[in-house]
Amino acid sequence: MKRRVFFQATIKYVSLAGLSALTVISIIPDIFNKKRSVKKIILGKASDIFSSNTAIVQKVNDETVIIVQNTMGEIQAFNATCTHAGCMVEWNDTQHSFHCRCHGGIFNEKGDPIAGPPKKPLSQLQVDIRTSTNEVILYLDDASM
Ligand code: FES
Repeated sequence: MKRRVFFQATIKYVSLAGLSALTVISIIPDIFNKKRSVKKIILGKASDIFSSNTAIVQKVNDETVIIVQNTMGEIQAFNATCTHAGCMVEWNDTQHSFHCRCHGGIFNEKGDPIAGPPKKPLSQLQVDIRTSTNEVILYLDDASM
């Protein structure tokens, strides 16, 4: 193969590869920019929800969510799946902590592991209080559940 033919073929294939790469790059943002749907669940008035307990359990899309009012009065929501091996944690109202019966894992009220085998914190979900009505709202997007 002559040098000139070799360089022409190389330029042709490099150009094709470049065009293919540009096409892929132009498609990728569409994949990542898909609109995520956010679902709002109104759980009720905070004063009603936390009148006798510091936590409630809510089933959402076959997942268990625990909504907690911590000792600072903040409301937080956690996926109840233990980060060690996937068992369900339970809220301990007197100790203000999450306990996992499978291997004795304990998480503090902020979801951080404090005892047992779990090393990662509980997965937290977005929760907010609508100030005008005092309603607790749980926000779920495609990635959170
Ligand atoms: Fe929870 Fe192992 S699954 S401590």
